Amino acid sequence: MLWTTLLAFAAVAEAMPKWMEKRQGGMTMLRFGCAQVVIDRLDPLVNPGVIPSPHVHQIVGGNGFNATMTTSDVSKTATCTTCAFSKDFSNYWTANLYFKARNGTYKRVKQLGAARQFNDDFSTAIDGGVLVYYVSAQPGKVTAFKPGFRMLVGDPTSRKVDANMKRQNCYRCYTGPNFGGDTSAPCMDANIDTQSLPPQPCKGGIRSNILFPTCWDGKNLDSPDHKAHVAYPTSGPANFLSLGGNCPSTHPVRIPQLMYEVVWDTTPFNDKSQWPADGSQPFYFSYGDNTGYGQHADYVFGWQDDELQKGMDATNCMGAKCKDMKNQAIAPAKQCQVKTAVKEDHDGWLSELPGMEMPMH
Ligand SMILES: *[C@@H]1O[C@H](CO)[C@@H](O)[C@H](O)[C@H]1NC(C)=O
Ligand SMILES: *[C@@H]1O[C@H](CO)[C@@H](O)[C@H](O)[C@H]1NC(C)=O
Repeated sequence: MLWTTLLAFAAVAEAMPKWMEKRQGGMTMLRFGCAQVVIDRLDPLVNPGVIPSPHVHQIVGGNGFNATMTTSDVSKTATCTTCAFSKDFSNYWTANLYFKARNGTYKRVKQLGAARQFNDDFSTAIDGGVLVYYVSAQPGKVTAFKPGFRMLVGDPTSRKVDANMKRQNCYRCYTGPNFGGDTSAPCMDANIDTQSLPPQPCKGGIRSNILFPTCWDGKNLDSPDHKAHVAYPTSGPANFLSLGGNCPSTHPVRIPQLMYEVVWDTTPFNDKSQWPADGSQPFYFSYGDNTGYGQHADYVFGWQDDELQKGMDATNCMGAKCKDMKNQAIAPAKQCQVKTAVKEDHDGWLSELPGMEMPMH
């Protein structure tokens, strides 16, 4: 049935960026948007039960998110999700980004929807959300996370380049509107992807990507630092879209390559006359970092039943649809919300970053 194969390929290829055409045969890449479920000063992994936690996060995914998430199965406590896959009640969160004007006040940077790929109109409309990727470079050999699993990647105290985070944490300065410069896989192009925030105004905004480790100890759903139960392959972090080397014997189980993507709409702040007079970086993450090296991301697994495993076992799924995995439309997804626990202004000009006593200069 060659013609059907060819037709199917043509339909996909049309909507696929050039760099993805080079992917290995058979691999599956779920790439889907999750709209914002809440912005709040909570961190159930690092500061469970602490209200408010030290810095602001933006959270997407299921409405089971709260300050004290234990290792119980969040797919059973959540009743709705903001994600395109309607059985994904996971929570995904990152720090927020702010612009610091010359007068020392901060304004939150909003986010754009994702670039349109794979004929996916859900993810283009997630403005304020996060684009999530689960890659299985070898379908059938990747084990989905278990209920209660959670992990953290990155270190909010980091302010200098960390070799271990190469290809794991990066920024791309979009050179024009409509995601100008989206020509190669995230964090793979040393000429255009930087490990620190781009120092120049970016005409199309700034995309940030953060990737999680791909090996698991096979036993622990969590660990005291939320990192020790996962690891990188022995050869170092895998390239996005490839398996990388073998998993170490301490962490022998291959888990999906999880990656988050956020497109920060920095374009309202591109007037350099408003940037700090000393030439310093005007964009700050909510934890007080204007280098970008401290970018971090949190994950609480919450897919219902074996839905994610089904996706990871499927071959050639690209984008926000895969075989019989259940989807929802963007309108009901956006209705899913979590009530804010810490009442704070997120959108005005702020004299300091919430929770941070930043010196004004
Ligand atoms: C968080 O959700 C869990 C599960 O629904 C619940 O047991 C717990 O009391 C909630 N915690 C807070 C602070 O709301
Ligand atoms: C600080 O600068 C911003 C950007 O020009 C402006 O919108 C805001 O009103 C200023 N705030 C104060 C307190 O001067």
